[in-house]
Amino acid sequence: MWPRELRLAPTMRAALIRAHGEPDVVEIAEVDEPLVGPDSVLIEVAASSVNPVDWKIVAGNLQGAIPHHLPIIPGWDVAGTVQAVGPAVTAVAVGDRVAAYDREDHVQHGTYAELTSVPERTVAKVPDGVSFEQAGALPLAGLTAAQALDAAGVIDGDTVLVHAAAGGVGSMVVQLAAHGGARVIGTASPTNHDYLRDLGAEPVTYGDGLVDAVRKLAPDGVDVVVDLIGGDALAATPKLLADGGRSVSIIDAATVRELGGAYVFVRGRGGQLGELLTLVADGTLRVEIAETFPLDRTADALRASKGGHVRGKVVITV
Ligand SMILES: NC(=O)c1ccc[n+]([C@@H]2O[C@H](COP(=O)([O-])OP(=O)(O)OC[C@H]3O[C@@H](n4cnc5c(N)ncnc54)[C@H](OP(=O)(O)O)[C@@H]3O)[C@@H](O)[C@H]2O)c1
Repeated sequence: MWPRELRLAPTMRAALIRAHGEPDVVEIAEVDEPLVGPDSVLIEVAASSVNPVDWKIVAGNLQGAIPHHLPIIPGWDVAGTVQAVGPAVTAVAVGDRVAAYDREDHVQHGTYAELTSVPERTVAKVPDGVSFEQAGALPLAGLTAAQALDAAGVIDGDTVLVHAAAGGVGSMVVQLAAHGGARVIGTASPTNHDYLRDLGAEPVTYGDGLVDAVRKLAPDGVDVVVDLIGGDALAATPKLLADGGRSVSIIDAATVRELGGAYVFVRGRGGQLGELLTLVADGTLRVEIAETFPLDRTADALRASKGGHVRGKVVITV
């Protein structure tokens, strides 16, 4: 068991929870270094980022959906340098700059640590010119955006409505859809409207009046609804879609399926992450970083995300 009082194995610093609760339960502890399996990549972590799933795991909200094993190191995004590889690994080598989205099937060994061990299939090389902060902020949000657009079959010329367009996933959905030739309408509070315009979307304010505001911009309805918030926004889908329109949600599987749409739960795919990193390197995809915290302040980073109004991403550096 770890963390140990008497340790023989090499140790590292990590953010750790021994019980679920508010972000205050996060401590910085000395724990055993991760093991490197036959197809694992051991990464010396330079940066990670906060996704809402991280504070939900800390709170214990997902215990019914994914097996949890306390104590838990939170964090699923990583960028850093390869320190060791298992004997079956061929795609990367010691010293490479890499990034990964590593959701474990059993939640225990995350990325808010000095070292993390991830499966080779999740890893992509980070191109020159892309910082570890950008690369560490990209994986979960970028892959979710790409996989949601794929699930909805978004094509050149579609009009796409994105609910919660200014957040980590939304910022990526807007840019990828616009890059693919779609016209994008995004919901955000008025303080984020200029930001959405910069990303390539026509902004509308969420809440009361949303349906009328969208209909004003797209009188015949939109071709695709991308739901990143659920609730009333998702429920309004039938009033917003054009005939034959498609919808996708990353929040509410049951409701979106009742509405004839698709649910996406993001998968770690190194090849797809590599394509996204290339788009960052060539300036197509902007990774907006709202705030950066050192590992010691992981609890503050989680609180910042939990507030629900981050523009882009909160980054943690190690
Ligand atoms: N199924 C999956 O695989 C998957 C993957 C990734 C994320 N998720 C989930 O998807 C959700 C979004 O993730 P995220 O990383 O994008 O979160 P995030 O970065 O924390 O989202 C923050 C954004 O949400 C916006 N927002 C808050 N309330 C809103 C509302 N009522 N209507 C529209 N926008 C609103 C805020 O805009 P303003 O500041 O302008 O209000 C802010 O920009 C989370 O619940 C997350 O757990 C699921």
